[in-house]
Amino acid sequence: MKSRNSIRLDNIKLHPAPSDPVKQSWVSNDDPLRQLSAALAGDSLPGRNQPMTPCITGASGIGKTTLALHCAARILHKPVYIIQCTAATVPDDILVTCRQYKKHTGYLASPLLTALLTGGVAVLDNANFLDETIWSLLLPLFDGRNFMQSPFSNSKITPHRDFRIITTANDTLSLYNIPEYIYSLLTPKIPVPQPKENEIYEILKANVMQAEDELVDYIINFMKKPPVVASIRDSINILRYSLKLINQEKYKIKDAVNTSIRLNPHLKYKQVKEEFYQLINK
Ligand SMILES: Nc1ncnc2c1ncn2[C@@H]1O[C@H](COP(=O)(O)OP(=O)(O)OP(=O)(O)O)[C@@H](O)[C@H]1O
Ligand SMILES: [Mg+2]
Repeated sequence: MKSRNSIRLDNIKLHPAPSDPVKQSWVSNDDPLRQLSAALAGDSLPGRNQPMTPCITGASGIGKTTLALHCAARILHKPVYIIQCTAATVPDDILVTCRQYKKHTGYLASPLLTALLTGGVAVLDNANFLDETIWSLLLPLFDGRNFMQSPFSNSKITPHRDFRIITTANDTLSLYNIPEYIYSLLTPKIPVPQPKENEIYEILKANVMQAEDELVDYIINFMKKPPVVASIRDSINILRYSLKLINQEKYKIKDAVNTSIRLNPHLKYKQVKEEFYQLINK
């Protein structure tokens, strides 16, 4: 997609953020993709069928970010701008950063502002890490007022009609909880369910194309046995590393998978950690 050299806001020239490449397609596990596409349909002009501000929820490594990126790039065919949310995200990160050069000041538009002004899709990834200062700046985009305050003046920025916003939230390991008044506006909530066994097979094959069926089947069987609690990401990583070990020729499938799991000890602890979080969230 063609990228712009500059965009304007309040007559000030801004350097746009680059859009993010989308490499991995979403495969099988069709329901969340259908639900997300439906939520984003429409156009943002007042009185029209306005798009919603969905929140993709689910455990770590289940596929939330992959789903958001696929939908934005391959279904909506729009440039994607990821905002990696952390506890250290400050207002400048979602608005504008100033750079002092020798003779002038340069203004760098954030990925969110770039998407808003040019009609891209902003993905607020792992949004549950954001603190309330940031949520208050974003609130008018979620509550139907449909604007963002300009960082340069009192003016309100109306989003480009193609602008979309997707949030993702990890529902197991949240550091900050999204405030209730915001969470109720992030709608619909689209859960990414654990894929069925045949879907896991397709996902693993799509992510590690060189893997042979026998190895993929072995991993799927192994990963579903307690005490191992594996996410899709874990399973992909185990598969990747098993394949590398097998390519060394010393390893048979069983040894390769065992070694690969042994060298990822967090898998064993994960179950204990999840039980702990369930306990404290009661
Ligand atoms: N349906 C799917 N199709 C293709 N790849 C998938 C699918 N589901 C999960 N994956 C793969 O699983 C891995 C983890 O996905 P992703 O990073 O999107 O998870 P996440 O839920 O965003 O995790 P986190 O909460 O840690 O941010 C990626 O390599 C992704 O390609
Ligand atoms: Mg993610």
